[in-house]
Amino acid sequence: MANILLELKNLTKVYKEGSQENKVLNGVDLIIPQGSFNVFIGPSGSGKSTLLNLIAMLDTVTEGQILFEGQDIVKLSERKKAKLRLNKMGFIFQFDGLLPEFSVIENVNMPALIGGKNAKGRAFELLKNLGMDNLAFKMPPSLSGGEKQRVAIARALINEPLLLLADEPTGNLDTTRKEQIFKDFAELAQKGITVLMVTHDVKAADYADYCYTIEDGSLKFKNK
Ligand SMILES: Nc1ncnc2c1ncn2[C@@H]1O[C@H](COP(=O)(O)OP(=O)(O)OP(=O)(O)O)[C@@H](O)[C@H]1O
Ligand SMILES: [Mg+2]
Repeated sequence: MANILLELKNLTKVYKEGSQENKVLNGVDLIIPQGSFNVFIGPSGSGKSTLLNLIAMLDTVTEGQILFEGQDIVKLSERKKAKLRLNKMGFIFQFDGLLPEFSVIENVNMPALIGGKNAKGRAFELLKNLGMDNLAFKMPPSLSGGEKQRVAIARALINEPLLLLADEPTGNLDTTRKEQIFKDFAELAQKGITVLMVTHDVKAADYADYCYTIEDGSLKFKNK
């Protein structure tokens, strides 16, 4: 059994709007082994982004624990959260979030620069691995949707994260491109990176080590 990278214990998220309470996650328990590719599927509004945002420490937990390398990250100071996020986590959001006024390679290098390093060489290698080295000096607005998604993937990997969080990273891609990204993620997991990916695409389950559905605030293990 691989080491456990992440463990959710009784993870609960309630959004309050006036007197209305919306319990989006209802005591979720989950163990994520290091180097696994995990897929989360569920209808719109079922709490998939909420789950990733809580793990990314971008939203507050109502109840429960998130153990990352054995440490409850819910209770960390904002400073420690920011440091952990920068050094150990990579994010791919549904909309690529690239900075339009910076070139592709500068976008990929950005999280390294924020962490005080210049990693242009590694940025170029990552782009090359994704078949994007010929586009390194282009500006994001001149790229296709699929190319932008791959830049976002390279950027998420620049700081060599232990954990990659991807929220519908294949949102607007065609089937071939989608499946290539699922394959890339399965490969990353084999190299030891733990991947959590949210998607609407049931085909992703074919590439994942573990697949879960989210419904009515609960996670269910989905047999492939
Ligand atoms: N900041 C917020 N304040 C109040 N309610 C919220 C907030 N963010 C999300 N919600 C609610 O929580 C529920 C889950 O939202 P979430 O974004 O996690 O869904 P999702 O599964 O990612 O959906 P989609 O597939 O459409 O992206 C929804 O009912 C949503 O309205
Ligand atoms: Mg979402």
